[in-house]
This record gives sequence, C-alpha cells and structure tokens, in this order.
Amino acid sequence: PARPLVDRFGRHISYLRISVTDRCDFRCVYCMAEDMQFLPKKEILSFAEIETIATAFVTRGVTRLRLTGGEPLVRRDIIELVRSLGRHIGHGLNELTMTTNGSQLAKHAEALVEAGMRRINVSLDTLDAERFRAITRRGRVEDVLGGIDAAQAAGLKIKINMVAMRGVNDDEIEPMMAWAHGRGMGLTLIEGMPLGEVGIDRVDSYLPLRELRDRLAKRYTLEKLDHRTGGPARYARVAETGGILGFITPMSHNFCESCNRVRLTATGQLFLCLGQEDQVSLRDALREGGAEALDAALDQAMLIKPKGHDFVIDRARPEPALGRHMSVTGG
Ligand code: GTP
Ligand code: 5AD
Ligand code: SF4
Repeated sequence: PARPLVDRFGRHISYLRISVTDRCDFRCVYCMAEDMQFLPKKEILSFAEIETIATAFVTRGVTRLRLTGGEPLVRRDIIELVRSLGRHIGHGLNELTMTTNGSQLAKHAEALVEAGMRRINVSLDTLDAERFRAITRRGRVEDVLGGIDAAQAAGLKIKINMVAMRGVNDDEIEPMMAWAHGRGMGLTLIEGMPLGEVGIDRVDSYLPLRELRDRLAKRYTLEKLDHRTGGPARYARVAETGGILGFITPMSHNFCESCNRVRLTATGQLFLCLGQEDQVSLRDALREGGAEALDAALDQAMLIKPKGHDFVIDRARPEPALGRHMSVTGG
C-alpha cells in the first residue's frame, strides 16, 4: 500500500471492524441495559459512506474487514453492503467476516456466502433454552441453532464466541465445547469487560480464563498452538475432540501490545481502542472534506491510538470505566 497505517508504537493497522448498527434484537445482560436508547437512524452512515471509508482503509493496507453491531444482520439490506465490500476480496482485502448473534442467520446464510464471506463468528453463551432467554432477555435459542445449521449448510466456517460468566454459564463450558467441536466449529471463551451499565454484576460474574483452562486441563489434553489469527485470541487444540479452543483474556492477560485493529461505529466515529475514548470522526472528514480529508483523518488517528485499555474489574471501583456499551463499537 501507498502509506501503511502505523501508530506511534509501531503497530500496523491491518484490521477494521465496522459496526453497521448499534441496534440489536437481543439485550444480553453483560452487553446492554434493559432499556437501551439507540441512535437516531438519520445519524447512521449510509452504505455508500461505509464503502468509501472501507476502501480508504484497504488502500492504506487493511487486509481484513469484520462487520459487527449491535447485530449486523438487523440492518436493512445488509447483504447489499456485504456484496459491495466483497468486491475488494483479492484486491488488497484477504477476508470479509462478521460477528453475529445468529438470530437472523437462517435467512441470510446463503447470500453471505454468495457475497464472498467464508467464515463468521456466532455469539452463543448457552445451549439451554431458558438460560438463553435469561441471558439475552428476549432471544430464542432455537433461532440461533437453526441459523448455525443454515450457515454450515451454506458452507460457512463458524467459530462460537462464549462470554464465560461465573454463576451464569460456567457449568456449560465442557458441554459447549463438546457440542461445538462435534460439529466442526471452534469455541472461543471471552472474559467479560466492563463497558456501560448492564444487567449483571461485573465483579461477581468475572471469571479469569486461567481458572477454566486449568479446569479443562484436568479432563482434556490442551495442545498449545502458537499460531495467531491476527485477533486477540490464543488457541489450543483439544486432543480428545480435535477441535480448537480459543481464549480471549483482556482482563487477566492484556494483548494490547500486538493490537492491529481499529473500530468504525455506525455513526462514523473511528475508535482507536475498545477500552478508551480516543476517536476521530471520519463522517465529518468525509462529509466536509471528501477523500483527501478522510485520508488525513486516518493519519491523525494513528497519532492518537492509545497504548492500550485500562479496564479493571474491582469492587472498589463499581462504575464501569467507560460509559458506552459494547454495542456502540461492536466488541
Ligand atoms: P477472529 O478473526 O476470529 O480472530 O476474530 P476476533 O476474535 O478478532 O473477533 P470477534 O468479533 O469474534 O471478537 C470476539 C471478542 O473479542 C470481541 O467481541 C471482544 O469482546 C474481544 N475483542 C476483540 N478485539 C478486541 C480488542 O482489540 N481488544 C479487546 N479488549 N477485546 C477484543
Ligand atoms: N465483555 C466481553 N464480551 C462482550 N460481548 C458483548 N459485551 C461484552 C462484554 N462486556 C461479546 C458478545 C459477542 C461480541 C460481539 O462481544 O458476546 O461475542
Ligand atoms: Fe446483541 Fe451481541 Fe450485545 Fe447480545 S452481545 S445484546 S447479541 S450486540
């Protein structure tokens, strides 16, 4: 690329996460408040604007795009955007992916594949119908399981993301792993992060993944894998199942020094870190100054990308470090 995106700490930015909407059909207790206020639709970037911004990033060396939300599949005509972004694949872009809650997947799986998507991550924290309802406050687990069936039938590779929570789903790690691996899907465990006021106690529910890893190591052979996908997860192969188990440990083992990513919100703010407020408005740059201003805004962004997050989960600090919810930046 002409001028690669490199920040003050020498980190190359090769991965852009694009939140296409802050809305979601679920209200997961660790992600959202019961009564979320969503952004007015008129403030949301158009597909043409997202496409222009994504193209600017690809030109500057971004090789991977991931669509997130809220829930990306609840945005109207989302497949159109996937199709237009998919045209970059093979021309600078290596991969176009999505992180979804799976509720609308049955409807869209084939179209995603036609548009060039090869793999997706599906968020699923439990297989139990009642527990699923309690965690998501309004989802139905059958919809997600049906979506996963459809996605596999369409040929999509799937990784399951599970936020591990003490007293909520920590008894389901082994069954979830057996289920996912039995179906040829990876399972990645995630430590909950303190973003926004939500519906569970962050301290009580916090589960350091080291603890789970040690527990799993008593029953399974975890072969450490050194390969990284360019994401924050560390991976192991489970000898007994042949499947892949990932660990995302922002709280207990920070991975910021190898950070390769930035996040575009649905309103066109570029957040430079999931755990900090530093941001640049690409929407303003684009609307007021066009392509040149947009490019300059990317340079500006590289100058303010912070070293890392400073999340803490601590009874002595009950307020979340950040007021905004995960659904603003899409995780
Ligand atoms: P892969 O390409 O499959 O490796 O995806 P990924 O793990 O980068 O993406 P995914 O959307 O599945 O991310 C899973 C979760 O990891 C997110 O929802 C976040 O909770 C967490 N995560 C991803 N990127 C970051 C990051 O840069 N910092 C922190 N603290 N957490 C992150
Ligand atoms: N901490 C960690 N992960 C979270 N997710 C949503 N909120 C949080 C949080 N506070 C996860 C979802 C999904 C991804 C988009 O982010 O479960 O896998
Ligand atoms: Fe929606 Fe995902 Fe947040 Fe759950 S975690 S409320 S599915 S955006």
